[in-house]
This record gives sequence, structure tokens and C-alpha cells, in this order.
Amino acid sequence: MIEFKDVTKTFQAKQGPVHAVQDVNLKIEDGHIYGIVGYSGAGKSTLVRMLNGLETPTSGSVNIDGVEISALSGAPLREQRHKIGMIFQHFNLLWSRTVLQNIMFPLEIAGQSKAEAEKKAHHLAELVGLSGRETAYPSELSGGQKQRVGIARALANDPQILLSDEATSALDPQTTDEVLDLLLSINQKLHLTIVLITHEMHVIRKIADHVAVMESGKIVEQGPVLDVFKRPQQAVTKRFVNEEVTPSLNETTVVVDQLLEKYPNGTIVRLTFHGDQAQLPIVSEMLKQFPLDLNIIEGGIHQTQEGAIGSLYVQLTGDRAKIDGALGYLEKMRVETEVLTRE
Ligand SMILES: Nc1ncnc2c1ncn2[C@@H]1O[C@H](COP(=O)(O)OP(=O)(O)O)[C@@H](O)[C@H]1O
Ligand SMILES: [Mg+2]
Repeated sequence: MIEFKDVTKTFQAKQGPVHAVQDVNLKIEDGHIYGIVGYSGAGKSTLVRMLNGLETPTSGSVNIDGVEISALSGAPLREQRHKIGMIFQHFNLLWSRTVLQNIMFPLEIAGQSKAEAEKKAHHLAELVGLSGRETAYPSELSGGQKQRVGIARALANDPQILLSDEATSALDPQTTDEVLDLLLSINQKLHLTIVLITHEMHVIRKIADHVAVMESGKIVEQGPVLDVFKRPQQAVTKRFVNEEVTPSLNETTVVVDQLLEKYPNGTIVRLTFHGDQAQLPIVSEMLKQFPLDLNIIEGGIHQTQEGAIGSLYVQLTGDRAKIDGALGYLEKMRVETEVLTRE
């Protein structure tokens, strides 16, 4: 288990102190894929760099399986680092080495014989889907393939933890999904813990089971991914979730304005469905019980690791008591509702 206890990191910059990480408490259980999301400068990289001793906390402690990483240096720190692999946005490959030689590199440093290292590297190349590309140079690979090399190299010393710092941020959406699928399968096959830093909620939704949201060095919200998607509490979390669940929120706003102009008496509601709730039967049953006019403004459904989540923007017009009844019915059916405008 990874445990951050009251961790603060302050950099002394020319302009004055920078509070990169402030009072962070976080526990990450073994085998989880734990997402850390936040905008640029939130402190995400600094936080995970303290896990492998690339930064040391100004105060507080960072522990892995009860060992205080933040108190180690020299040989004991190097030994602990073997338990942790890391992948990066720009891959950090050695350009004059082939795929196989890149993967072998950490094994050579760890003192393995060339024959052993080669055997292991072949196995890892296969695991990440690069069989047949072992003799290629990084310059001959696509972005997705380069990141696969990065992943294989990070796994070379059989780490217990894989740190991913914006590892898909330089990739196109389809390649991003392929690399995320690979990370998920590695997590399941090898049972390692993945700490996933990103500024994209899509990445979190696709493979993480838990998420912490960072803003200005602090963790402002954390929990199971589906809970955070269903009930984001903080403004920054709502922004992330809305960007992802309703990518065309701007368009939605335009449509909402148009509808309000046309039907100024309407009540506009956002319904959030999750798990096995089928959207339309609930809505049609609601309309049977509470006859109202209903305009569908926009809707979408997304898969998370713990089930589907969908949102539907609708405008209800009609008798006030019926609208209240309809909203009560939705609540009874455990559909989250948010009334955006009311006549
Ligand atoms: N070595 C450093 N010296 C001074 N300031 C730093 C250093 N590393 C990071 N920072 C500052 O700490 C804050 C958090 O940075 P970082 O952890 O890289 O955020 P993120 O990864 O979320 O974008 C930023 O304001 C950044 O400029
Ligand atoms: Mg960063």
C-alpha cells in the first residue's frame, strides 16, 4: 500500500516559495488503478515524484508497504526504486538503441547477464504487443509503439507499482485508448498498482477505479471513480466531469438558451443515470404517471470500470405540481436530478 501522510512540498524559487504540494493525505491500495487528475501546475508530477524519491517532501512522509521512502537515500533508495516503474509523456527512450536494447537497459543496469536480459526483453516485447519490432529503432515507431517500449522498459525489473505521468498526452485519441487498454490488461495480468496522472478525465473514466482531484497543490476530492462522476462536489471536479460526460456543453448551453426562448415556462433538468438503470423506460414511466411535454436536449452514455454512466438533458413543460411529481418519481428511482432552470 502507498501512503502519503500530511505531505507538503515547497520549492524555493527566485520569485519566492512555490507551494507545489500541500497537506496531502492519500492511501492507494495494492492492485488499484488510481487516477490523479488536475490542470497543469496542480502539483501532480511533484506528488508522484516523491514516490520514487525524485523529490523529497518538505514535511510529512511517503510510505510504500510501511517503508518510509522519503527517509531513504543511497543504496536503500535505489533498491526501493526497483519496485517502481515509470512512463512519461515523451517516452524518454534511448534513440540510438533498438526496441530490444531499450527494454534491456534497466536489466543491464541491475546487473543481469546479456542472455538473461535478452530473454526477458523478448518476453516483455511480446507482452506489450511489439513482437516482430524488436530490432526497430525508436525513430521508426509510431507514438503508440514508442509508449509500448516505454511500458515494457518500465516493467523490466518486475515492479509492484507503475507510475504513469501523462503517458497518453502526446497520443491521438485512438492510440490513447489502445495504450490505456494495454495498461488495464497489465494491471490485471501482473496485479501491479498503477498511479495514473492526467489532465484528461477520459483517461480516468476509461481505466481508473479511484481518483483524486488536485488543485493548487491540494487534493480537493477523492473516491471511487463512479461516485466522483455521479456526484462531483468541487467546482474543479464538476468542470472535469462535465467536459467528459457532455463534451458539447457549450452547444448544450446554446440549445438550452434557444429552448428557453421558445418555451420560457419550461423546467430544464439534467438527469444522471448509472449502473443498470435503463434511461428510456424510467422516463416513459414517469411521463405515464405525470403527463408532461418533454423535449430531449442532449444525452450521452459512457462506460467506466464500474459500470455505465449517462446523462440526459430534458425540458419539461406543464403543470407545476406534475413537474414536482415527476422529479419526485425520478428521485424515487434513484436517478440523480439537477434542475438547471425553472420557470
Ligand atoms: N523544481 C522546481 N522548482 C520550482 N518550482 C517547481 C519545481 N517543480 C515544480 N514546480 C512548481 O510546482 C508547481 C506544481 O508543478 P507540477 O507538480 O509539475 O504540476 P503538474 O504536474 O500538476 O502540472 C508548479 O507551480 C511548478 O511550476
Ligand atoms: Mg506534470
